[in-house]
Amino acid sequence: MKTGISITCFFAVIILCIVYSCSKNKGINPDLAFNDKALYDSCKNVSAFMYYKNDPSAVYSGAHGPHGAFKLRFNKIAYAALTDNGKLPGGKTFPAGSMIIKDLQSNGQYALMYKKSSSWLWAEINADGSVAFSTTKDATATCVSCHSQSGQRDLAVSFNFY
Ligand code: HEC
Repeated sequence: MKTGISITCFFAVIILCIVYSCSKNKGINPDLAFNDKALYDSCKNVSAFMYYKNDPSAVYSGAHGPHGAFKLRFNKIAYAALTDNGKLPGGKTFPAGSMIIKDLQSNGQYALMYKKSSSWLWAEINADGSVAFSTTKDATATCVSCHSQSGQRDLAVSFNFY
């Protein structure tokens, strides 16, 4: 009887150890399927995107942000959510799989947001594919703090200015 209890305890401890070590290995973005490289490939696949207000030639000043002049494009999932005269309606959120890219005019860098499940991944990837700001970094202070000024537009700021 006593041996039975110790064997049970022994296995319980082993299972707890396995559960603990699995949860310990989770990073900031668990199950990240969209790494920097995959997002860079998406950025270069320009034909899969629609430009803001369907105007591929529009260059915006970027006077209110840190990136300077830019072009703005959305993948089809994100673009479909822009139902308020080309903007995201106030109080709405972008669906999972949405991607928004700023094409920086000064150096060809891509600044992007990608909606993974219900939260945004943030990145800055240079024209040659080298990573300036990785999706694996905590973007709270670097991107989200300033983007919070968007009000009710799911952290997307451009609608406030353009
Ligand atoms: C100091 C404020 C500020 C910071 C910090 C900032 N942004 Fe922005 N961002 C803006 C503003 C303002 C816009 C609207 C366009 C413009 O005027 O540049 C914008 C627009 C964008 C857009 C287009 C979608 C939208 O929200 O309109 C993307 C993508 C983007 N930023 C990515 C990033 C990433 C990635 C970071 C962090 C590495 C970042 N931003 C940091 C202010 C900021």
